[in-house]
Amino acid sequence: MANTIFHKHFVHHAAFFFIHSLLVLASLIDTKSHQARDGDGDFKCIEMERQALLHFKSYIRQDPQGYLSTWTQHEKREEATSKCCEWSGVTCNNQTGHITSLDLSNGLLEGKISPSLVNLTYLTHLDLSWNHFHGPIPMFIGSMTQLRLLNLKDNNFTGNIPLFIGSVTQLRYLGLGSNDFNGTIPMELGNLTKLQELYLESLSNCIIENLNWLSNLSHLEILYMDGTSLAKANNWVNVIQSLKKLSVLSLIECDLSHVMNPYSYSSFNSSSTSTSIISLYLADNNLNSSMYHWLFPLISDKLKDLYLDYNKLVVIPKYLGNLCGLTYLSINYNSMSVKIYDLLANLSSGCTSVALEKLDVSYNQLTGSLSDNIQKFSSLKYLHLHNNELNESISENVWRLPKLDYLDVSSNSLKSFISKYIGETKILELYLSNNSFEGSPSNIHMSDHSSIEMIDISSCKLGPHFPNWILKLKNLTVLNIANNRISYTFSIKFWNLWFSQLIDIDLSSNNFSGSIPNVSSSLFKLDLSHNNFYGQIFFLFQMTGGSLSFLDLSNNSFVGEIPDCLWHFKELQVLDLGHNNFFGRLPISIGNLINLQVLRLDNNKFSGELPLSLQNCTQLKFLELGVNKFSGYVPVWIGERIPVCTQLQSFEPLRYVGNVGLCGLPLTKYCPGDKELEAPIIGQNEGGGGGVDELDRLFLIGGASGFATGFWIVCCGLHVNWHGRNEFFRFLDNLKDWVYINATLFIARRRRASYV
Ligand SMILES: *[C@@H]1O[C@H](CO)[C@@H](O)[C@H](O)[C@H]1NC(C)=O
Ligand SMILES: *[C@@H]1O[C@H](CO)[C@@H](O)[C@H](O)[C@H]1NC(C)=O
Ligand SMILES: *[C@@H]1O[C@H](CO)[C@@H](O)[C@H](O)[C@H]1NC(C)=O
Ligand SMILES: *[C@@H]1O[C@H](CO)[C@@H](O)[C@H](O)[C@H]1NC(C)=O
Ligand SMILES: *[C@@H]1O[C@H](CO)[C@@H](O)[C@H](O)[C@H]1NC(C)=O
Ligand SMILES: *[C@@H]1O[C@H](CO)[C@@H](O)[C@H](O)[C@H]1NC(C)=O
Ligand SMILES: *[C@@H]1O[C@H](CO)[C@@H](O)[C@H](O)[C@H]1NC(C)=O
Ligand SMILES: *[C@@H]1O[C@H](CO)[C@@H](O)[C@H](O)[C@H]1NC(C)=O
Ligand SMILES: *[C@@H]1O[C@H](CO)[C@@H](O)[C@H](O)[C@H]1NC(C)=O
Ligand SMILES: *[C@@H]1O[C@H](CO)[C@@H](O)[C@H](O)[C@H]1NC(C)=O
Ligand SMILES: *[C@@H]1O[C@H](CO)[C@@H](O)[C@H](O)[C@H]1NC(C)=O
Ligand SMILES: *[C@@H]1O[C@H](CO)[C@@H](O)[C@H](O)[C@H]1NC(C)=O
Repeated sequence: MANTIFHKHFVHHAAFFFIHSLLVLASLIDTKSHQARDGDGDFKCIEMERQALLHFKSYIRQDPQGYLSTWTQHEKREEATSKCCEWSGVTCNNQTGHITSLDLSNGLLEGKISPSLVNLTYLTHLDLSWNHFHGPIPMFIGSMTQLRLLNLKDNNFTGNIPLFIGSVTQLRYLGLGSNDFNGTIPMELGNLTKLQELYLESLSNCIIENLNWLSNLSHLEILYMDGTSLAKANNWVNVIQSLKKLSVLSLIECDLSHVMNPYSYSSFNSSSTSTSIISLYLADNNLNSSMYHWLFPLISDKLKDLYLDYNKLVVIPKYLGNLCGLTYLSINYNSMSVKIYDLLANLSSGCTSVALEKLDVSYNQLTGSLSDNIQKFSSLKYLHLHNNELNESISENVWRLPKLDYLDVSSNSLKSFISKYIGETKILELYLSNNSFEGSPSNIHMSDHSSIEMIDISSCKLGPHFPNWILKLKNLTVLNIANNRISYTFSIKFWNLWFSQLIDIDLSSNNFSGSIPNVSSSLFKLDLSHNNFYGQIFFLFQMTGGSLSFLDLSNNSFVGEIPDCLWHFKELQVLDLGHNNFFGRLPISIGNLINLQVLRLDNNKFSGELPLSLQNCTQLKFLELGVNKFSGYVPVWIGERIPVCTQLQSFEPLRYVGNVGLCGLPLTKYCPGDKELEAPIIGQNEGGGGGVDELDRLFLIGGASGFATGFWIVCCGLHVNWHGRNEFFRFLDNLKDWVYINATLFIARRRRASYV
């Protein structure tokens, strides 16, 4: 269980990160198109520079995205010279026509870098990041002394970081990170005294003897060295302290705990700090609490973001309570096993509590109540306390925090949270799952003013009574109340309310019952599994928008045929109707469900043949059709001359058992008229890689099912096969989270729209 929860959160983070990356990417693409437009105009580009670019292109072996496809030679001469400023990635000076900027980032180009680039003598901006250039950094770069920006990040460069980089002295921006360099990072970088941004991250094979050279870079504002070891740089704090303009310092996973400790706590004078660091990222460095005092010299009241995740810190010293500018403090995954009261007391000992907007202390061992002194954090918007050992109650003051949008206290051992003030909260998202609110009152007074839009109160031992106060959350759109042993029979009124307002409902694993009336809704996700619901499922007719992605009605007593409209929900990714009393045939239109990943229809009374259109569901990763009355062949695709396996043959025979009339691969049961059927050779994955011949991955299965005798079935590259329930549940969880995130985006969009 704990594992799943960890996973869930990880997925949340990963997904948000993913979305964030998409945004970043979108903005990059945007920038590029601007640059292309900048090239417009009637000025001409310089012929020698055009030749230099063409020569550069001639060295490129791979251009998978056709990034350089606009760089063409075969044009009329006049046109050509006017156009090279419009080539993708190229920017010219609009007066002189000289090329000033070459931005080929994210081109995925592979090959050598032509030295012809030295002929671009007016180039100030060379960005080759996110490509696959390899070998040592070419020597000619050292003579491009006019460059102000040089970005070689995220390539496959090897060898030493060359000393000649130190002679490109006009550089403001230097990116060398995420390459395969080895050797010592040269102190010649200290010659680049105009640098404002320096990126040396993920150089895990490089050695840094000391950082003295860094103190030369007095204009440095941004420094990233994540994943590059500073284990020998024992004076790093002094050096950083000397960089008076530094505002962003990221030293995640830099082995900082290995560094000899040159400070003694008593000699530290807090009023003499003067760094101007705004964002300080020191996660994953094995820091323990006795190392805090190194950090103090770097921390001033200019600091806004402090990340100390994945360390071994056990307390938060009072010093951090006195940072009037701190807005984000993150200390996830550490070893704090103190009372949260004491922690909040230290943090509110000065002015920190007035400014702090986001506090993340998940994955520690904090104990006690979420205490009254939370009240001092009057700017707090996000409070993450997931996965701690809080074991008493949630203070009423939490509900009255004026700015709080988001509260996550899931996976603790909290015993009570209900308060008359919950009706006044400004919170939009509330995560309470995995606590034990046993015996909390089911009826509390709720005002009509609660703003809560999402509530997850699953696995909280709420039953057997239904918590009626939930019905009063007028703005609720996402509800998860799964796994609470609640016994309740829903009335029509109830469904009317929920289906009109919610887009994501999880009522699974309770003792809910009743039938579902024909009420309209625009759901993304509906999970009613493991309850006692009964009757037909005509409510599907009333679903608007076609955005239903997740429908789990399994383990109930639903009956009847599946309304045809279900097969038209194109967005559907999970459809689980298992363990009910559904009957009827699967229609051809099931082939509309091209996004379906999970299809479970087992333990019902479905009958008839499996439609060939099932092969349209190419995303299918989990299939369960067992214990029904299906008959006929498991469909194969009738290719040009011979029948070919579809993904339906890639599932274990077990997925089909209990259908007396079903035959053909992957089942070992012959269909009438079949030749002797050899045991199917399936489940072979492509693994092993290397030089496997294409033919080895095609295997022929002899004399198989019922297409005129003598035919063979070709099964190639058989893919997924799920072994074990755990794998399935992990997969399902993951998918649920994605659907959840889409629902979140939907809500956010709607919220934005309603402001306009
Ligand atoms: C030329 O470039 C300068 C600076 O880049 C810009 O301010 C100016 O508007 C441009 N002129 C034309 C005609 O595009
Ligand atoms: C630079 O341009 C000149 C004249 O076109 C050419 O002779 C020379 O080879 C070029 N240099 C490089 C390194 O390509
Ligand atoms: C570049 O490095 C990446 C990651 O280390 C690797 O996957 C890729 O195959 C390399 N490409 C080349 C051309 O060496
Ligand atoms: C650095 O890498 C190069 C090849 O990329 C190799 O020849 C050299 O031996 C390596 N040097 C060290 C010190 O590992
Ligand atoms: C670079 O710095 C080194 C010492 O760090 C110095 O000897 C050398 O002259 C400098 N080179 C240039 C080109 O400034
Ligand atoms: C610092 O910069 C000066 C030039 O401004 C240079 O002479 C000196 O060698 C540099 N020091 C280091 C350690 O690179
Ligand atoms: C701390 O530093 C401040 C300013 O630099 C100075 O005025 C004060 O005397 C110092 N205190 C101690 C105890 O050194
Ligand atoms: C912190 O780590 C250092 C070095 O590993 C060790 O000497 C010190 O005792 C540790 N302090 C605590 C409080 O664990
Ligand atoms: C509070 O701060 C004091 C002084 O910095 C420290 O000794 C103590 O351990 C801190 N307590 C907690 C719970 O962080
Ligand atoms: C509920 O949502 C509506 C529309 O988004 C909004 O105008 C209203 O203020 C919200 N109610 C509360 C109590 O937040
Ligand atoms: C299969 O999918 C395609 C679109 O990918 C669709 O045009 C076609 O109608 C589908 N076939 C069936 C039988 O639903
Ligand atoms: C989320 O929405 C996007 C775009 O609306 C869609 O491409 C994607 O498939 C959706 N993902 C899930 C898991 O529903």
